[in-house]
Amino acid sequence: MSISNYIQENRDRFLEELFELLRIPSISADSAYSKDVHAAAKWVAEKLRSSGADNVEVCETPGYPVVYGERLIDPSLPTVLVYGHYDVQPPDPLNLWTSGPFEPVIRKTEIHPEGAVFARGACDDKGQFYMHLKAFEAMMNNGGVPCNVKFMIEGEEEVGSSNLEWFVKKNHEKLKCDVILISDTGILKNDTPSITTGLRGLSYVEVEVTGPNRDLHSGLYGGAVANPINILTKMIASLHDEKNAISIPGFYDDVVILSSEERAMMAKAPFSQEAYNKALDIAKEFGEDGYSTMERNSIRPTLDVNGIWGGYTGEGAKTVIASKAYAKISMRLVPDQDPDKITQLFSDHFKKIAPDAVKVKVTPHHGGHPYVSPIDIPAYKAASRAMEETYGKEPVPVRSGGSIPIVALFEKELSAKSILFGFGLDSDAIHSPNEHYGLFNYFKGIETIPLFYTYFVEENAKA
Ligand code: BES
Ligand code: MN
Ligand code: MN
Repeated sequence: MSISNYIQENRDRFLEELFELLRIPSISADSAYSKDVHAAAKWVAEKLRSSGADNVEVCETPGYPVVYGERLIDPSLPTVLVYGHYDVQPPDPLNLWTSGPFEPVIRKTEIHPEGAVFARGACDDKGQFYMHLKAFEAMMNNGGVPCNVKFMIEGEEEVGSSNLEWFVKKNHEKLKCDVILISDTGILKNDTPSITTGLRGLSYVEVEVTGPNRDLHSGLYGGAVANPINILTKMIASLHDEKNAISIPGFYDDVVILSSEERAMMAKAPFSQEAYNKALDIAKEFGEDGYSTMERNSIRPTLDVNGIWGGYTGEGAKTVIASKAYAKISMRLVPDQDPDKITQLFSDHFKKIAPDAVKVKVTPHHGGHPYVSPIDIPAYKAASRAMEETYGKEPVPVRSGGSIPIVALFEKELSAKSILFGFGLDSDAIHSPNEHYGLFNYFKGIETIPLFYTYFVEENAKA
């Protein structure tokens, strides 16, 4: 039997197993689901074992466990470390889901005419990392893997991977590898394959603005004391200038400016502004002057309010001046911005622009460094050849706007590059209601991954 026949014959089971995993609500951000996150780790370990991995372990950390497994065939051959995450984002707002977030179902969409699996984590990242287990199983049942393989599937990616850092630092030897293979990003379109060559970094802060020491009647006190919501919104509005650039002093100091050749290369990737606007139902795009949409969401840094609250938001009207107002703010970073430095710049600036009438507190959350990957290394060439074979088209290198903070850490700690071999689509609604993953994408991934291994061994021998 060939690998593709094996995949064909086991198609239904590959899908049923994914459904089983998607039914486990492994929400790492919400401690009410702690049992489920642990259950997901155990499930992944069992499946790694049954797929053919050796020395499978559920490695405890101070947080959620890392699931490890390996197939080491020959120390003279290269080693691929597969990374993924079994935790998912919270599903809310629940009322916007057409079917339950943890009750996977297949529905057809315009973009996925052959059907897509709808569930939280379908694309990010359960559906994507599980392709690797099934591709591995297919190889194991058809002559074995062509090089050494290690798996490291974590449960805290969606909350900043803070314990994975601890785990990686403690396990240099165990995780030693030549390349890290990650399917946790996407391709441009199902007929336009691409490989992600960059990720943005992240600095995430929460701010609290305090006015009077208690909520006040807005008639008795209004106009005479600082309203923290008024102040906070004004402060936030001042963080972008009239060109939509970020006005924090020093913010752009370390930003690497791309040459006009590099920008011209980027502009070659297929993109339709019209289709983009239509898909989002917006009359016009918006962003920093002087940059295209593709540049704004990949090679340029951003500052976005992710949430803002305070005061009365219940039914009807309440005349009140709140004592406090809050916001969560994320900044996406590009090479060579440093998340700690940016957090400090933000914090200093935000405190500086606050009027004396309020107190300001800035609390940093998790962050991460940006990442870029070269396209002239054996692993990139292998990924490109593999996709070219299964899609019938050479994939385009594309820098993504998303973040996987652990990728830069892998490079630092393990001295290995990562190949961002994702198969999802931007329209798959990751982190949003009705997240889904195309059946086409799931099986295309399972079919493409074994070719990566074959070509990686070849390219490595050439190099
Ligand atoms: N898989 C995503 C990141 C991603 C998706 C990158 C699509 C590129 C294309 C990952 O799970 C994620 O959501 N990362 C977070 C950061 C993390 C620290 C919570 C993000 O980008 O917001
Ligand atoms: Mn992810
Ligand atoms: Mn995510």
